[in-house]
Amino acid sequence: MNNCLLVTGGAGFIGSNFVLDWLSSSRGPVVNLDKLTYAGNPENLASVANDPAYTFAHGDICDAKLVARLLAQHRPQAVVHFAAESHVDRSIAGPEAFLRTNIDGTFTLLQAAREYYGTLTGSERERFRFLHVSTDEVYGTLRPNDPAFHEETPYSPNSPYAASKAASDHLARAWVHTYGLPAIITNCSNNYGPYQFPEKLIPLMIANALQGKPLPIYGDGQQVRDWLYVLDHCRALRAVLEQGRVGETYNVGGGNQRSNLEVVTTLCALLDELVPESKFKPHFQLVKYVADRPGHDRRYAIDARKLETELGWRAEESFETGLRKTVEWYLANSAWVESVTSGAYQQWVTQNYGSRDLAEAPASEAMAKEAL
Ligand code: NAD
Ligand code: TYD
Repeated sequence: MNNCLLVTGGAGFIGSNFVLDWLSSSRGPVVNLDKLTYAGNPENLASVANDPAYTFAHGDICDAKLVARLLAQHRPQAVVHFAAESHVDRSIAGPEAFLRTNIDGTFTLLQAAREYYGTLTGSERERFRFLHVSTDEVYGTLRPNDPAFHEETPYSPNSPYAASKAASDHLARAWVHTYGLPAIITNCSNNYGPYQFPEKLIPLMIANALQGKPLPIYGDGQQVRDWLYVLDHCRALRAVLEQGRVGETYNVGGGNQRSNLEVVTTLCALLDELVPESKFKPHFQLVKYVADRPGHDRRYAIDARKLETELGWRAEESFETGLRKTVEWYLANSAWVESVTSGAYQQWVTQNYGSRDLAEAPASEAMAKEAL
């Protein structure tokens, strides 16, 4: 065994940020197993494609033979498992792929990791970790005054995506309890930052605003998410890998609760400032209220005190600094946005937004002022 990592889903949003960050700090080689679904983009990792410390393996985490071969060949010190179907709206439109990748895929990885772990001895065995990267959505939804999700909050997943991730968390937990696999689970709040596919709220709003397209707000826009800059998540994962306790769960969140309307209002103000020549200014005029997401969770909030006190982690970016960096990245990388939004992306936009009747528009100006 060496200090190699087997990362799954490393061509996606968080995975590619993690791989780039890991390799830039010369922590050791990375093997990236990714199926390259619509959400996986090798261009995200173009800067390390020729790095001898980086190996790309194109394949499916449900392929047990392939996973076993990669483990035997590269003998990693850890598996960092990001690969998933990750978009709630797509899980509502078509849940099958979510059950397959998120549940069967995690099962396949856990079994292969268990076999591999069985071959390790001594310090190699002591060091091995399976880091299962999960979401706060497994905990369900909060009312306005409920305390934030903590590690003992009962699971109550509401969407097919959340249910599939909850199932995968339960599998990881059971593999620790029954087979002694040294797994650790992290449950993180909504991430944002570079390389996020423009089907998620923040990059979708940036991409649409720059093209003068409507900014579709589901329902009343008062749903709350707890936003975390992606590199703060990556730092948390490194801390958990290095010092986290086996069998534990760590919640990861930035303490940045914002309503969707607040997020969009702040984004529009940033775009007004950073693209002063835009003919779509003020960008907030593009806001359009559309039919709500079925089963839409009202509020997520994370209590990250365990991670902070045990492992000394703290988010470094505030929402304001992280969002500014993010908008600047999308402005500087319009070619990336164009390349990922051609073809199949357009079909998704038509499918998801074409059938959403315009909702009764709340008094948007007044609400925006309130949101600020
Ligand atoms: P993403 O959708 O951007 O990327 C997923 C990656 O997994 C893609 O590269 C895709 O090609 C790959 N993939 C999908 N199915 C695969 C399969 N069967 N085999 C191999 N590769 C496959 O996702 P993301 O936003 O980067 O999320 C990564 C992980 O973090 C997920 O497990 C997600 O549940 C979790 N998470 C995400 C957030 C968030 O805000 N994005 C928050 C908390 C946790
Ligand atoms: P999203 O980025 O899909 O993340 P998640 O559903 O996992 O939290 O959505 C974030 C919030 O933004 C969520 O409350 C749904 C809302 N939303 C919109 O209002 N309009 C949109 O077009 C999208 C994609 C999301």
